[in-house]
Amino acid sequence: MNTAPPTTDPMLWIPGPTKVRPEILSELTRPMIGHRSRAMVELIESLDPGLSLAFGLAPDSGSRVAVGTHSATAMMEGSLYGVGPRVLAIVNGAFSKRWAGIARTLGKDVTVLELPWGEAADETSLTSALGASEPFDAVTLVVNETSTGVWTPLAPIARAMATSPDTMLLCDVVSAIAGGPIDFDAHRIDFALAGVNKALALPPGITVLAASERYLAAARERERRTHYLDPVLLFDGHAARKTPTTPNIGLFRALSRQLADIAAGANLPAGSAPVSPEDGWAKRFETHARMRERTLRWAAERGLAPFPAPALSSPTVSCLAADPQTIDDLLARWKAAGHEVGGGYGPLKGKTFRIGHMGDHTEAELDALFAALD
Ligand SMILES: Cc1ncc(COP(=O)(O)O)c(C=O)c1O
Repeated sequence: MNTAPPTTDPMLWIPGPTKVRPEILSELTRPMIGHRSRAMVELIESLDPGLSLAFGLAPDSGSRVAVGTHSATAMMEGSLYGVGPRVLAIVNGAFSKRWAGIARTLGKDVTVLELPWGEAADETSLTSALGASEPFDAVTLVVNETSTGVWTPLAPIARAMATSPDTMLLCDVVSAIAGGPIDFDAHRIDFALAGVNKALALPPGITVLAASERYLAAARERERRTHYLDPVLLFDGHAARKTPTTPNIGLFRALSRQLADIAAGANLPAGSAPVSPEDGWAKRFETHARMRERTLRWAAERGLAPFPAPALSSPTVSCLAADPQTIDDLLARWKAAGHEVGGGYGPLKGKTFRIGHMGDHTEAELDALFAALD
């Protein structure tokens, strides 16, 4: 099997940005349209059904979706303008730590629920943190910690949040969305944000968003000392099909195409039966789960241990522990074969490496990645 990509660029297995299909890239080269044109209105409208499925909005949901032209970190900040000062930040890796830091920068009164990297908050730890003081205005949670490969199960988080009914749940689903179910309403999430360069497999530059009715109602009442990152302007602009500023039209088109392709099962193996949009998404999640199992099997055969507990292992990024020499050797051999695999993040550098089996990577490509070492 030919394992090398067709260009001199490596095949990207880092945990985002990831491989982008040529059909998606070609959307970026189409002639521009006016951002106040009828065509733009139709383009924005075309995003809603797919985004509702990506965030897993309930069929009767009053929650809304939106898209902003900026990277995900912008809305880690933006989401916080809509909530009160008392923030409980769940920290179990680099990106959740970043979010707690952003909240402090904005002058929030931040309490940290700190967990060892590789672990996740559960019903007991979150319930006890929520009950330890006056009610919090918001909890921040990074659902899939890209730095550790930990996916925090959302049902226990939702049960814990039920003990503090007025507290908003803000979720970073950057490397989670399109890799597994979010079920925004069922998990009583109030705000979710995601860049598109992970399991949505687009070039970076826009962020997809969802917000509950009560988040938007509360945010409207607050003084929001921002303009570009104002969640209310972004959601109202999206609803009116008029983005508050000039959007990245090429990426909006690429997103529209990708959402339609996922719903149509276009990325499934050739010859697969036609699917409903719901099945298209469910099958994409199943593919990611199988790629996780395949990766963990390969790791076990090589005597490599997953960094997170098996029940927390992410379907989009596998973080594997090894000694520095083994990591250097594996990454160098993959590089020579045309594959770029991710190293450890921050304090996990030299202790772990990360395989981003996300987005439009196929199971056959994953097999080829492993075969490249043999
Ligand atoms: C979980 C998570 N949150 C936030 C970010 C920040 O995204 P960006 O650098 O696109 O702003 C990343 C980037 O890798 C991430 O993995």
